Amino acid sequence: MNDGYKLVVDDLQLGYRSKRSGAYNAACRGLNLEIRNNEFVAIVGPSGCGKTTFLSAVAGLQPISGGRMDLSGRPIDGPGLDRSLVFQHASLFPWRTVLGNVEFALQAQRKLDATGRRRARDLLELVGLGGKEDLYPKELSGGMMQRVNLARALVTDPELLLLDEPFAALDAQTREVMQEELMRVWQADEVNEGKTALFITHDVPEAVFLADRVIVFSRGPAHVVESIDVDLPRPRRPELKRSREALAYTDYILDLVMRQATGREPGNDTGKERADDSAAAVTG
Ligand SMILES: Nc1ncnc2c1ncn2[C@@H]1O[C@H](COP(=O)(O)OP(=O)(O)O)[C@@H](O)[C@H]1O
Ligand SMILES: [Mg+2]
Repeated sequence: MNDGYKLVVDDLQLGYRSKRSGAYNAACRGLNLEIRNNEFVAIVGPSGCGKTTFLSAVAGLQPISGGRMDLSGRPIDGPGLDRSLVFQHASLFPWRTVLGNVEFALQAQRKLDATGRRRARDLLELVGLGGKEDLYPKELSGGMMQRVNLARALVTDPELLLLDEPFAALDAQTREVMQEELMRVWQADEVNEGKTALFITHDVPEAVFLADRVIVFSRGPAHVVESIDVDLPRPRRPELKRSREALAYTDYILDLVMRQATGREPGNDTGKERADDSAAAVTG
């Protein structure tokens, strides 16, 4: 079935039209990539290059200006129950408990039956929130909120999990813990079956630690500069991050990203508006 690919992106163009001037600004141009079933793929690239725009398009929230994008062999033409999104900020309902927030995802899909309720509790247990079901969001730390966010995204059993810098707002230690937690959850049998993940980050060591493959986007409008298979053993354990192999991948990929960010490498743009973007890339 569709050659084992979950997602096929072919010559994709994405962009924004200014309401005021009507001018079109490209965010992705000539973007080609393929994501295999069950793959965990991380996307890295300079700040503002079009990563979020791309992920939104995969989620069906961003109109496609050109080219095509097939999910499990069918063109993406809007949001669907087969995809879940995890953003940097959890945006939980403050008036619902932890369990209520996770159950809401099921309710929205009319799947809140006895099995769904059990799955919600099981997933909260799995993400380390067993016993915290009745707390409210204001009682949670940032890390705990992202755990709820992850449980909420997984409870509907999506085929494709889309994560946009989910740990970027966390402090460094919590981020490390959450990376390990995500790997533990991802590698758990009840989750992993039939799942594919697309994880956006600007943190290259994070990408290397998590992913089967890291795709480097060019500076905007984004296209794929290189795809790197991360040949590190699974299950991924924390100590792997400091291994010579992981550090070598990180160095190699960081260099690719920095070339894009600083404009030392030709992109597919004219170079005029690059100075601003490069400055943003280095600070962002
Ligand atoms: N809602 C929007 N309206 C207009 N332009 C946007 C909007 N969102 C993003 N952009 C522009 O699209 C480009 C890509 O942005 P984005 O996808 O957010 O980049 P990244 O996630 O890689 O940092 C940027 O030039 C940004 O200014
Ligand atoms: Mg972004």
